[in-house]
Amino acid sequence: MRSHNAETHHVGVFEEVSERATLDPEAFWLDAAQAIDWDVYPTAALDDSHAPLYRWFADARLNTSYNALDRHVAAGRGETTALIYDSPVVRKSKSYTYNQLLDKVERCAGMLAEAGVLSGDRVAIYLPMIPQAIVAMLACARLGAVHSVVFGGFAAKELAARLDDAEAKVIITASGGIETARVVEYLPTIVEALALSAGTVHTVIVKDRPEVPGSAGEYSVAGTDWIDWHERMLMADPHPPVSVAATDPLYILYTSGTTGSPKGVVRDNGGHAVAMTWSMKNIYDVHPGDVMWTASDVGWVVGHSYIVYGPLLAGATTVLYEGKPVGTPDAGAFWRVVSDYGVKTLFTSPTALRAIRKADPHALLAKNYDLSSLDALFVAGERLDPDTWNWATALLEKPVIDHWWQTETGWAICSSPHGIERLPLRAGSPSFPSPGFRVEIFDDSGAALGMLEEGHIVIRLPLPPGTLPTLWRGDQRYIDSYLTAFPGYYLTGDSGYFDRDGYLFVMGRTDDIINVAGHRLSTGSMEEVLAQHPSVAECAVIGIHDPIKGEKPAGYVVLKSGVEIEDAVLAAELIAMMREQIGAVAAFKDVTVVSALPKTRSGKILRKTMRQIINGDDYVVPPTIENTEAIAVIIATVSR
Ligand code: COA
Ligand code: AMP
Repeated sequence: MRSHNAETHHVGVFEEVSERATLDPEAFWLDAAQAIDWDVYPTAALDDSHAPLYRWFADARLNTSYNALDRHVAAGRGETTALIYDSPVVRKSKSYTYNQLLDKVERCAGMLAEAGVLSGDRVAIYLPMIPQAIVAMLACARLGAVHSVVFGGFAAKELAARLDDAEAKVIITASGGIETARVVEYLPTIVEALALSAGTVHTVIVKDRPEVPGSAGEYSVAGTDWIDWHERMLMADPHPPVSVAATDPLYILYTSGTTGSPKGVVRDNGGHAVAMTWSMKNIYDVHPGDVMWTASDVGWVVGHSYIVYGPLLAGATTVLYEGKPVGTPDAGAFWRVVSDYGVKTLFTSPTALRAIRKADPHALLAKNYDLSSLDALFVAGERLDPDTWNWATALLEKPVIDHWWQTETGWAICSSPHGIERLPLRAGSPSFPSPGFRVEIFDDSGAALGMLEEGHIVIRLPLPPGTLPTLWRGDQRYIDSYLTAFPGYYLTGDSGYFDRDGYLFVMGRTDDIINVAGHRLSTGSMEEVLAQHPSVAECAVIGIHDPIKGEKPAGYVVLKSGVEIEDAVLAAELIAMMREQIGAVAAFKDVTVVSALPKTRSGKILRKTMRQIINGDDYVVPPTIENTEAIAVIIATVSR
């Protein structure tokens, strides 16, 4: 719990709420469960009979799409705007009321049912930021099918790995996306992914976009039926919501693990609906009819939670923005959207703010727009550096709330509880643990550290509702990856410390995950790609500091002896391989050929020391180093 200076100590509303969640989680979450509609009401909140795997609301039943749509229509709010689609790239803006969105979701669910999708089946969604993405997700939820949304910046190989792991039956896609001025055709990627995958997909549904070449009729792949979204939607019968167990999976969202195949984070239906609804009111202070805009992508957890499910479960209006912070057309784009739609709550990444700041340092473009509707700006995805926090706070004169979370947790582990109490914010800190998250700091041996001491950030089990109950078909992998390092605790993979007043400071990952423009990537997977090149003997991919994207990957490679290849040729080949195998999203553009990499006597590459040297930080060379001379090699690359 937060510690306070004795003189300033007072028990605030937030502290009381946190204490209730800690002391009596059963009563706390059953109380929160009243905010949603159940087919079978839960008689208990936590089921710990399979600890360390925990489940929430195990005896209850519900439908998530019913809660996100039908419930608001039944309450007489069918004509409230549910969704505003704004696309500077195709110059289009369109609103959907709850009635209209429900109609589309009912028919999309009917279309999927006609394509043979049953409750529990997996459906892959590979779509750009268009309304069909939200319709498809909610249609899966309506059927009790499990969606797996794959971000459009991933290449065919990554898509195929996700199709196979989930054993997806159907893919919902579009002819493509538009990346500012570049058209990204999706269908060739789909064909390639199908060729690489094990063949579980039997139907590909294509939304034909006039701006991007390619349609269902132009493609055929043996064993798959390609159908046109528009045509089938017109013919489809509306499908009612299917009641599912609260513990049934709503979705799988793959995220970078340290190495190897991506991890399929599972989200349940009941715990998720309760946590989303609770967070909308208590963290974001967003209520029915309020406009929330999360400028992320539906392919990431932030998009799942706060473009799609959170705002719609709350009966609010969500904005789906198919554009960038800069370049579509300028750094005033965010302020234009806020003023056009009366956005109350904006949520974005530090990278987006830094990109806007670089293009418009004094935010002159913001002066063209009325930002008076804005109540708060929430930021997550990577650390919000104090400089950017100060800039945004001075610009908006509104709370700029950093909050820290992960794909795994689905909602904020730490935040300032804007809907409960307006607490002072501190630059560089995502404030306090959200009620239900019992956060502690451990050293390597599992001993608890005191205030200001940096260590592993861990969360005492059980995690609250809405967090991952397990990995897809991977209970053991879940236990091994997260629950084994410190028994009884969830390992976040982040390091940090609490200050004297209980504010948490999250300093960075302790594993090989990096955050590039708020996109989570594994340097281990990138090294696997580089190592495939016939000229590469060994390699290391390091996350180096980038003034806009926070971090960017940089590859250091040692050539096999006797190999002769020009550095520029090798670099171009490695960059192309990365784009081909992981995707453009890897943003891999830096290759340095070196004569040696520093290693320990047991052969482990000293990546941390390399990162410190390359970033110009203080560094310590571990005594176990095998080849001290390699340190000079890395130092030389910096001064080049
Ligand atoms: N589909 C296909 N390609 C995509 C893509 C998508 N959905 N998203 C990104 N890419 C591509 C980009 O076009 C770029 O390709 P390029 O190498 O050919 O230029 C590459 O992936 C890297 O993208 P990115 O790292 O985003 O860099 P950028 O230079 O295109 O854009 C910013 C810079 C700052 C505008 C952009 O990173 C941004 O908007 N960041 C905010 C991200 C965010 O909100 N994340 C939320 C997580 S909570
Ligand atoms: P993702 O699963 O893509 O949401 O990435 C989760 C990781 O991003 C976390 O483990 C952190 O390393 C980082 N992260 C997300 N939000 C923050 C934040 N507000 N402050 C610091 N790091 C963050």
